[in-house]
Amino acid sequence: MLNMEKTKIAVLVSGGGTNLQALIDARGKVLQSGEIVLVVSTRSDAYALQRAAAAGIPAVTVERKGKTQQEFERGLTEALSAAGAEMLVLAGFMSILSADFTSRWPERIINIHPSLIPSFCGKGFYGLHVHEAALAYGVKVTGATVHYVNEVPDGGKIILQKAVEVLPDDTPETLQRRVMEQAEWVLLPRAAEMTARALAEKRN
Ligand code: GAR
Repeated sequence: MLNMEKTKIAVLVSGGGTNLQALIDARGKVLQSGEIVLVVSTRSDAYALQRAAAAGIPAVTVERKGKTQQEFERGLTEALSAAGAEMLVLAGFMSILSADFTSRWPERIINIHPSLIPSFCGKGFYGLHVHEAALAYGVKVTGATVHYVNEVPDGGKIILQKAVEVLPDDTPETLQRRVMEQAEWVLLPRAAEMTARALAEKRN
């Protein structure tokens, strides 16, 4: 979108940050309407912070541990306001956000979840656990979902989904990797662009 001001995106992470990397690599390609102005990590030892540094993106840590929900969210809000963030991308963000927080960002928070929602989602289904559950159930197809975030964990409106085959000799780790490569890293930049573009158009 020529001459349109880009939507300011904050990416919230808790771990390795391969989805953050997919967003970084999508800048100027799939991701045209938004710019990543901040990375917020809930852990100071998250490898995602090194990815942000390597890409020259400002990053802060807002620890989740040892805080009440309210204290944690106050810290998040301060960091996000200081950066002027207009939308949030949860990219391997392992904390639950309250209704008080999510209601202040209506259709402005998107999350990547490593299954086909409504399967294997909600409280307790995160990271490798999702793939363990899919294998234990014996599904032959799984995938990833990007959805808006509301007060229900993994319950917001679905934006994009992609199916991925489960193979007979899969371990949680091999399945996680295939779901990332074939679905997550493809879907998340696309959904971020869709949301950033909609917000940019609304502003202009
Ligand atoms: C990803 O598979 C992401 O979908 C999942 O955690 C992994 C984080 O990897 N997120 C959730 O389970 C959220 N409920 P990353 O740090 O390498 O992007």
